[in-house]
Amino acid sequence: ADILCIVGARPNFMKIAPIMAAFRANAPHLTVKLVHTGQHYDVAMNDRFFEQLGIPNPDISLEVGSASHAVQTAEIMKRFEPVLEAEQPQAVLVVGDVNSTIACALVAAKRGVRVVHVEAGLRSRDRTMPEEINRILTDQLSDRLYTTEAEALDNLHAEGIAAERVCFAGNVMIDTLRASEARAVPAQQTLMAAADPQVFTMAPDGYAVLTLHRPSNVDDPQVLSRLLAVLGEISERLPLVFPVHPRTQNKIREAGLGGFLDSPRLLALPPVGYFEMIGLMREAKLILTDSGGLQEETTALGVPCLTLRENTERPITITQGTNTLVGTDTAAIRQAVADVLATGGKGGRQPQNWDGHAAERIVADLAAWLAAV
Ligand code: UD1
Repeated sequence: ADILCIVGARPNFMKIAPIMAAFRANAPHLTVKLVHTGQHYDVAMNDRFFEQLGIPNPDISLEVGSASHAVQTAEIMKRFEPVLEAEQPQAVLVVGDVNSTIACALVAAKRGVRVVHVEAGLRSRDRTMPEEINRILTDQLSDRLYTTEAEALDNLHAEGIAAERVCFAGNVMIDTLRASEARAVPAQQTLMAAADPQVFTMAPDGYAVLTLHRPSNVDDPQVLSRLLAVLGEISERLPLVFPVHPRTQNKIREAGLGGFLDSPRLLALPPVGYFEMIGLMREAKLILTDSGGLQEETTALGVPCLTLRENTERPITITQGTNTLVGTDTAAIRQAVADVLATGGKGGRQPQNWDGHAAERIVADLAAWLAAV
């Protein structure tokens, strides 16, 4: 193959879909293969996204599954090296900041294969966050870097990465959002399918969507318990729809906090599909989340987002979008929700190059770059 594209975890799927489509449409002379590491493997975390987003079946599956960070990363590296050897690509394209991203970038860089990173230069400046380590290292190893917001170039520059290697292409995740909006599943339909209307009483003024999965929020039972307590309180005012990530489900159970999921004004769902999620977000009063992708999608959709973290690697969602960092302090979360309910929340505008055409710009630039190097 000329190019190996790597995916592993759920947030990679919405990023690779428009890139694969743009390769097919605009650079048919390049042979592109899709490698799936198998970091995410559940039907709800994986298969549904391939189906809904029309991602071609992976050409190569590494089937690594779950493990500690070291074991998972090492296992991906071990299994990817022979693939790279057999395929002899001109470049390996990685997206985002998950363990699959750094693992494949590192293997490629050490074998002298060019690394291309989509979503480069984002920095939370919080090295306790596993993704921050993945971002810094992947960018250092990359030969061509595509950014989603202007500040990313400053971050890369500060780390000694030459501006000539960086291209401000925009946000491929928003390409997928724009391409999929028409197929969003109405929230009512998703809620009706999941909820016993006797149990989950929808307030006339709507609902909020909650997602939680960051280790910093869910791994420590004390932190988790404090967060769930204030969220339970919020659900009294505004019902919460909560698609639960598998790791969060495990942590809630391990901490003995399963009762939270039975609150009458909280609807816990298994992970939902992409079209279901857009529908739920679009019609929500607000989103409470610790996800990176949701901070961007809510900005694109114009829905207020309260981010349950102390920092963000996506500052444009704050300066131009609908995002507010509220941290994990109980009083701050309570106040922020009250503010959104009173005022309708922060308005925003569309960041530059979040226009649905980022993948086309990436493929055009990449084809020209490969022809020149
Ligand atoms: C990973 C990414 C994170 C991303 C998130 C989105 C890293 C370091 N983290 O975190 O950046 O925001 O994906 O979902 O790469 N599990 C299942 N089924 C699956 C996948 C995972 O049950 O299909 C459970 C397992 O118990 C596993 C745990 O979730 O141990 C964590 O999975 P892992 O891939 O290690 O990281 P995520 O928390 O999903």
